[in-house]
Amino acid sequence: MPPRKKSRQKKANTTPAKTWGGRFSQSSHPLADAYTVSVDIDRRLWREEIAASIAHARMLGRQRIIPRADASRIVRGLREIGREIEAGRFRWREELEDIHTNVEARLRQKIGAAADRLHTARSRNDQVATDLRLYAKAACDRTADAIRAFQLALLGLAEANSTVAMPGYTHLQRAQPVLLAHHLLAYIEMLERDIERFAQARHRADALPLGSGALAGVPYPIDRASVAKELGFSRLCENSLDAVADRDFVVDYAAAAALCMTHISRLAEEIVLWSSAEFGFLRLPDAFSTGSSIMPQKRNPDIAELARARTARVQGELVTLLSMLKGLPLAYNRDLQEDKRAFFSAEDTLLETLAVFAAMTPELQFDAERGRKAATANYALATDYADLLVRQGLPFRQAHEVIGRLVRYAEKKGKPFDALTPAEFRRFSPLFPEDAANLGLDAALRARSAPGGTAPRRVAAALRRWRRKLEDA
Ligand code: ARG
Repeated sequence: MPPRKKSRQKKANTTPAKTWGGRFSQSSHPLADAYTVSVDIDRRLWREEIAASIAHARMLGRQRIIPRADASRIVRGLREIGREIEAGRFRWREELEDIHTNVEARLRQKIGAAADRLHTARSRNDQVATDLRLYAKAACDRTADAIRAFQLALLGLAEANSTVAMPGYTHLQRAQPVLLAHHLLAYIEMLERDIERFAQARHRADALPLGSGALAGVPYPIDRASVAKELGFSRLCENSLDAVADRDFVVDYAAAAALCMTHISRLAEEIVLWSSAEFGFLRLPDAFSTGSSIMPQKRNPDIAELARARTARVQGELVTLLSMLKGLPLAYNRDLQEDKRAFFSAEDTLLETLAVFAAMTPELQFDAERGRKAATANYALATDYADLLVRQGLPFRQAHEVIGRLVRYAEKKGKPFDALTPAEFRRFSPLFPEDAANLGLDAALRARSAPGGTAPRRVAAALRRWRRKLEDA
């Protein structure tokens, strides 16, 4: 048996008292501890935690709220802790609940009593909101960069296939021919709006909560503006209750993430369809397809399928956050601790998905011949024939009716448009020109030259515009 004194000292080292322990006479139940712990999740905020604590301590020193020498000791200690964490030398302790108490306890080990002054004029409530807003801003930047990279990959694919045609669909029925590049540019446009949404989310996160205290503000002559400046916040949270209670900026991120995933998921669905034998437009690269354990011929689009399913998860995180908030009275409630799990999961899933799609996209191989054939099959030029009659003076509704009858006739004969004779065309309208059968895919594409259309010259201009834009960004 070691001497009593020694064992007590050892115990004090491994399980320091809770920061809020003073009021309690009984220690907490192990199951309660396990249930409340969050350090496994929130340790991800360590850079923000260290930066925010340093800015706070400096301000406390400048304002003479704590002795300047203590402030300096605190700042030095925090910097060392940051290095320990970065190097993987920091011992995270679950019994200390969360990141904030872990860092503070380590600071006390390192610099002693001066550490006890760091928590002057702040609460974990404004602290965690500050960490999380800093983190959200960086997450928005990271995400926007990842979306940009994916846009570039899509643009490269569109440029490499700039003359490839395919059927455009409505109701998943062949509708009108389009250029594949036009189709891919549609996703680039969606992703551009996603980037805008992350920029807006970043803007709303960009306000400093510190100085709000637990909920009501703090009774010290603090200088919030200088803390905001040091941490790179462009403004202050203006209401202390709002500052500690709301997580709308996390919802903003999750909403933008859910929508971005939804966009990716639609492309994923098309990759699944296009790589099927039924469509046969797309060959999946070996490096991004998986085989079957029983059917040796299979090439499965598992990446696209998983992206579709993970979209559901990110949508779920958004619903988790909204549901978590909707019943909460002001101000802080422990429920808010769960925001991080949902936030980080949404971010991780989106970033992983963007990365794998950016890597896979340049490897996608289109079957241009098959696309071209499919583009005009099933009377996909019907609208173009109607437009041809409109150019001869027939009102569109009547032209539509004429072509409807023509299609019914051709279908019965089992002939495509280009197999019909001039006489057959003229049975339906005298306005058809002699060479009506030769209308063809290229003319149909060229004709859609109004701004935003799939005409090759419009698409070429759009590709150039996006190349310039993405390279400047
Ligand atoms: N771990 C907590 C969270 O993430 C920090 C704030 C705790 N505040 C409190 N009053 N218990 O929400």
